[in-house]
Amino acid sequence: MKKPLNEMYDELVRNCAPDDFWGQVKRTVGGKPVSEEQIEMIVAAVVEATDLKPEDCMLDLCCGNGALSTRVFSHCAQGHGVDFSEQLINVAREHFEDAPRETYQLSDVVEFLRAFPDPKRFTKAFCYGSFQYLPQAMAKAFLAELKQRFVSVSRVCIGNLPDKERMNDFFREGAYVDGIEDQYDSAIGIWRTRQEFFELAAAAGWHTEFRTLPESYHASHYRYDAVLSRGRYVP
Ligand SMILES: C[S@@+](CC[C@H](N)C(=O)[O-])C[C@H]1O[C@@H](n2cnc3c(N)ncnc32)[C@H](O)[C@@H]1O
Repeated sequence: MKKPLNEMYDELVRNCAPDDFWGQVKRTVGGKPVSEEQIEMIVAAVVEATDLKPEDCMLDLCCGNGALSTRVFSHCAQGHGVDFSEQLINVAREHFEDAPRETYQLSDVVEFLRAFPDPKRFTKAFCYGSFQYLPQAMAKAFLAELKQRFVSVSRVCIGNLPDKERMNDFFREGAYVDGIEDQYDSAIGIWRTRQEFFELAAAAGWHTEFRTLPESYHASHYRYDAVLSRGRYVP
């Protein structure tokens, strides 16, 4: 039987160097941490998608070790990250926490969305490279709770989603296993078409637009970002 994902990340952190922040969240290509340029592309995409402003309070859902969160939070007034890997949250607290401006919390993301006592505090949210690892029922609950309880959140970036229409660009000859696209606990998680994602988010009341990172981004050929808003966005 597979280990739960939080335990897999706990183990990964123990096996990585303490300052291998990108290795700890599997942000590697060919076993090497991705370049600074690639990280900055992600940060710029999240800032632009959420229209992040200096006065905003940003929520990072499935924040990992905070290495990406801290760069995004540097563009706004306050940030709070949530993740269910104890080891990743320990790293976030040790290296990036700067309360009350920047804080990190150990919690399952859906439990957090259901129970956090002060949801109105947040004005923007993002979830990067993680949504696809939620089982379908949790993905639905995530979107519904965020919409219903976090009423001041006007824009959400759900980033780095695997594009079901581009699976052939990803799986090498013979590597595809029947049905793998629906398995949240596979290496890439659940693959969705833009239409499938749009309908999932619409069922929770969100409007979705889609973005793709520039071609020079290492995964742009099989991933997209979804940008959720409470109505059609007029810049
Ligand atoms: C690939 S990492 C991405 C981390 C971070 N967002 C980043 O981009 O650097 C996926 C993260 O999702 C977290 N995660 C997955 N399912 C979760 C859940 N149900 N509740 C909280 N965190 C979860 C994992 O612990 C892990 O940190």
